[in-house]
Amino acid sequence: MARVELQAVRKSFGTVDVIHGIDLDLASGEFVVFVGPSGCGKSTLLRMIAGLEDISGGELRIGGEKMNDVLPAKRGCAMVFQSYALYPHMTVRENMAFGLEQARLSKREIEERVTQSARMLQIDHLMDRKPKALSGGQRQRVAIGRAISRQPRVFLFDEPLSNLDAALRVDTRIEIAALHHRLHDTTMIYVTHDQVEAMTLADRIVVLNAGKVEQVGTPMDLYERPASRFVASFIGSPRMNLIEGATAEAMGAACVGIRPEHLHVAQDGPWAGKVVMAEALGSDTFLHVETAEAGRVVVRIPPGETPTPGTALHLAPDAARLHRFGADGAPLA
Ligand SMILES: Nc1ncnc2c1ncn2[C@@H]1O[C@H](COP(=O)(O)OP(=O)(O)OP(=O)(O)O)[C@@H](O)[C@H]1O
Ligand SMILES: [Mg+2]
Repeated sequence: MARVELQAVRKSFGTVDVIHGIDLDLASGEFVVFVGPSGCGKSTLLRMIAGLEDISGGELRIGGEKMNDVLPAKRGCAMVFQSYALYPHMTVRENMAFGLEQARLSKREIEERVTQSARMLQIDHLMDRKPKALSGGQRQRVAIGRAISRQPRVFLFDEPLSNLDAALRVDTRIEIAALHHRLHDTTMIYVTHDQVEAMTLADRIVVLNAGKVEQVGTPMDLYERPASRFVASFIGSPRMNLIEGATAEAMGAACVGIRPEHLHVAQDGPWAGKVVMAEALGSDTFLHVETAEAGRVVVRIPPGETPTPGTALHLAPDAARLHRFGADGAPLA
């Protein structure tokens, strides 16, 4: 069992504090995704869990045991990096076996584990190649295979798919979801900038901002009930429209948020505007509309006839779907 608990965990590099006291309780077997702007501390937090960075304050427990001073190899964590981090002079088989040899497993055990994880990731036919003779996607599968063969209690992924092309990202994402299903006792912590990865893979998402937790919840929780203006603007693509000024004040808020799918083109809509740009994606069309009342907003409309730039129209927000925020960014009831 590998419950992962962080209590008041802090990190400073010299005099610079980057993690400001984080409390998290991740259940054994849970798939948790960390998201947040660049530099907010996602990789640092992952590296602290793995033992690649020491912990400046607070407590980390894995499976109920305090881990602050336990060596990385003894924590039962395996990490997959964006850069793959394969040894270039070793074959795939050697790359996968290396950590197990270091851990002094028997030859037979190593052979069994390497073969099994290679089969799981369908890289059996690549075992005698060196990394330079592999595509990016194949290298990433080897890196994941190497991590699996260590049979970790906790799997840590730091933006593992960001170097892959769009199609391969989708395939590998689906493989990771299947992997989690198969290794259902293994706790997975996954860092990404990708909205689709976060929404589809996570049991729970942790939104980080400047070294603090902004909100923890299921993907739909965060999408439908953001606990701050920051989370509202961070979760969802295209982003939630945020409207300030007189229109927000008239609704008793410092800021009003409305998602593109909750704004409709309607003749009697209260907001008058002109189309600035239309993005037809095939399945959806996004209109960028400049309005007097709400500023520049993005509206999702069904595919089909697309209004050309300059077209005048009216917009109606779905009143039940408005998010109201106070001056401090907290949601108003
Ligand atoms: N070894 C280090 N020494 C000093 N500062 C560091 C070190 N490593 C990271 N930092 C700082 O800590 C902060 C958090 O960095 P981190 O790499 O964890 O961010 P991140 O959320 O992973 O960002 P990204 O999305 O760009 O990968 C940044 O301000 C970074 O400059
Ligand atoms: Mg990072």
